[in-house]
Amino acid sequence: MSHSDVRLDFNFAMDLSLPEEGLSVKEIEGLEAIAREIHRGLVAMKEVGQIPFYQLPYQEESALRLLQKANEYRESFENLVVLGIGGSALGAKAVISSLQGPTFNLLPPEKRGRAMRVFICDNIDPDALSALLDLLDFKKTLFNVISKSGDSIETMSQFTWMRQLLIDRVGADWRRHIVVTTDPVKGNLRAMVAEEGFVSFEIPPGVGGRFSVLSPVGLFPAAMAGVDIQELLSGARRADVRAAQEDLWLNPAYMLAAVQYLMFKKKKNVLVLMPYSEMMFPIAEWYCQLWAESIGKRFSLKGEEVNTGSTPVAACGVKDQHSQLQLYMEGPRDKFILFFLLEHFQKNIPIPKETFEQGNLSYLGSHTMEAILKAEAQATEAALRDAGRPSSRVLIPRRTPYDLGQLLFLLEVATAFAGGLFEVNPFDQPGVELGKKMTGGLLGRPGHEAFKDLVPPKKRNEQFVI
Ligand code: PA5
Repeated sequence: MSHSDVRLDFNFAMDLSLPEEGLSVKEIEGLEAIAREIHRGLVAMKEVGQIPFYQLPYQEESALRLLQKANEYRESFENLVVLGIGGSALGAKAVISSLQGPTFNLLPPEKRGRAMRVFICDNIDPDALSALLDLLDFKKTLFNVISKSGDSIETMSQFTWMRQLLIDRVGADWRRHIVVTTDPVKGNLRAMVAEEGFVSFEIPPGVGGRFSVLSPVGLFPAAMAGVDIQELLSGARRADVRAAQEDLWLNPAYMLAAVQYLMFKKKKNVLVLMPYSEMMFPIAEWYCQLWAESIGKRFSLKGEEVNTGSTPVAACGVKDQHSQLQLYMEGPRDKFILFFLLEHFQKNIPIPKETFEQGNLSYLGSHTMEAILKAEAQATEAALRDAGRPSSRVLIPRRTPYDLGQLLFLLEVATAFAGGLFEVNPFDQPGVELGKKMTGGLLGRPGHEAFKDLVPPKKRNEQFVI
């Protein structure tokens, strides 16, 4: 099949469409010099292996090994349960949901082909975890424990719980039901692999959780769900070619970052991410995390306190037209809306010409569901533009592994590049450390005792609890 590129259309962010709130060509040109500098910085870092997520689309051998392993496992298992959190879960969720949809696990085996049911546990809500147990036959279930650090409280407590259940329900063979994805050398999980002999995959050193979707973190669960991971990588390689261009005007990833940055500078503090696709909604959740953890920072690269970053919000077209859109149309003028629009859907649902006699519904009968969705997206964009509210669209040709690979990689490069524009380090997340330490203090983790006292006493001021 011939492929088309994922494209960025930022017409409705420009002053030609929005004379008051839009960006001028001059404003974008004003970033050209700094964009060249950031580009050269990224290239230099790439060359010395300091941004290894750029290499992931080229790890074809590793992908082959993952596929072989997935094929072997399909002979003996029906379910894969992923235990992970944040960047160790959201990428797999986004890929599998986008390509297989939310109801895939409900299909009978003969309709799933050789694909396994994949359940992603990225929370520790005991009720939700228990509900999963009612569904699973442990003898036919494989667990993929994913943690780069091997140390996240949530993943490690899930794993400890599941391990015991496995021992109880499967017996001596329990280790065969575990696959670990973690750092090649460091951390608790790697030590367990060495001791217990679990099958394991490596997360390449230096690839942070939220940039790891194209590593075994996202690829193995995707392969188990029947996704063509080689096509996913092939799409990412195509995106890498386009996102490697120095010229801002030719590079969709850099331009997306530039538009998001300039909108933030114009006090559009909220970045609404709105796919017009039920299946691709988790892409918005994945990009929310990528953007928020990478760009939301207290200190700049120069060490100045800046407290910067736009706040991503996930919305789903068309349904959130009936919930959030009212606020976007008439609420504070602090939002920039990024639509993700599919150019072609896979299924065609024509609305029957014969409709109810009551009411005036006959006009619907000449359309398909796709045409109605697209009309709604177009109308929403136009209404926002008429209300002076800026937006842009990422155009995705088809919901295929190739196009998804392009999309994910473009958004990763956009985020890395945006780090340069916002003058922050997009690859760290110091802000989440304190909460983790306090949790450790509360749970009696050795070395964390001092943090316990930082958490306010259990007795709260009753005046403020009503
Ligand atoms: O992007 C990140 O670095 C984080 O969201 C991590 O993925 C998340 O905290 C989970 O970490 P780990 O994989 O070490 O368990």
